[in-house]
Amino acid sequence: MSRPLTATITLSALRHNYQLAKRLHGGRVLAIVKANAYGHGAVRCAQALEDMADGFGVAAIEEALQLREAGIKKPILLLEGWFEASELALIDQYDLWTALHSEAQIADIEAAKLSRPLTIWAKIDTGMHRLGLQPASFKAAYERLQASGKVGKVIAMTHFARADELDVEATSQAAKLFQAAIDGLGLETSLCNSGAILGWPTTHGDWGRAGIMLYGGAGTDRVLPDWPQPVMALDSQLIAIRELSRGEAIGYGARFVTEQATRMGVVACGYADGYPRIVPTGTPVLINGRRSRILGRVSMDMLVVDLSEHPDAAVGTAVRLWGEGLPASEIAAAAGTIDYELFCNVKRARLIYQE
Ligand SMILES: Cc1ncc(COP(=O)(O)O)c(C=O)c1O
Repeated sequence: MSRPLTATITLSALRHNYQLAKRLHGGRVLAIVKANAYGHGAVRCAQALEDMADGFGVAAIEEALQLREAGIKKPILLLEGWFEASELALIDQYDLWTALHSEAQIADIEAAKLSRPLTIWAKIDTGMHRLGLQPASFKAAYERLQASGKVGKVIAMTHFARADELDVEATSQAAKLFQAAIDGLGLETSLCNSGAILGWPTTHGDWGRAGIMLYGGAGTDRVLPDWPQPVMALDSQLIAIRELSRGEAIGYGARFVTEQATRMGVVACGYADGYPRIVPTGTPVLINGRRSRILGRVSMDMLVVDLSEHPDAAVGTAVRLWGEGLPASEIAAAAGTIDYELFCNVKRARLIYQE
């Protein structure tokens, strides 16, 4: 008997969501599998997508090499480029694509000894103000890259800061700034993450970069007929049941005191598993598929749920923390965060892959 916490990953839903991204965006779409595929397992997810994906996106060379070592042959893009110039030798050896976001990196390329021309995704800062070349100096940077003789294909890319907000102008303004920066160069383009794929059709370029929507999130609050399907289900079980009378406190800090006689259950899941400690009393769970609520503070390995409306619940009854029937985004909202962070934080759960 082992601890009953599982994270079940439905690969057919992942594949469905990739195809949805392709259909909505048009052109080609990278499947973003950085951060261990947002907690879903990078190798398994990339293997499940390899026959259909146009390529993959990761945050760092270690993640790219893990995929290559697992036999992934499709293009892999380093979304943040390299952190040290010495990585260029590995980029060359493993035939990786790389973002380029600074003048200093152009100098690295000029100095590098490479066996083949690099495929560069040249990143332009259109308002995020994190990484990227300045729009006004992009053409000069591009000419310098071409003059280096080390570069083959160049794809112009940008990353939106506010694609999830569908009622502000920032995204269309960023897209205009981007188009002006590359005007006349005839480059392929990549602008859109999930929020923009779903919510900003006028900004679509040649290559989408779909992350959270592959994993069943939306990256936007837009309601569409075609919605990504949930991929991860975080499930556990009741491990104890108690009947408390009125006026009894539950959990650390006595944050919840029963207002009436209450049947409560203890669930094997806590903040050490990545479930957010900060959620308030009332945060939903599914007991055998029906809604209930968390009572009091989430502790390290356990949380407590209300069974007053669940007379049939017993030790061993299934409890869903999120997944089909209970969107992770709802739990994320209760915790003041986003589903991206919940997925990335999942730890200790037994990972199960199913078709
Ligand atoms: C450069 C870049 N492109 C695309 C993505 C995917 O974004 P999303 O998960 O919102 O689809 C990310 C993720 O943060 C990113 O950093």
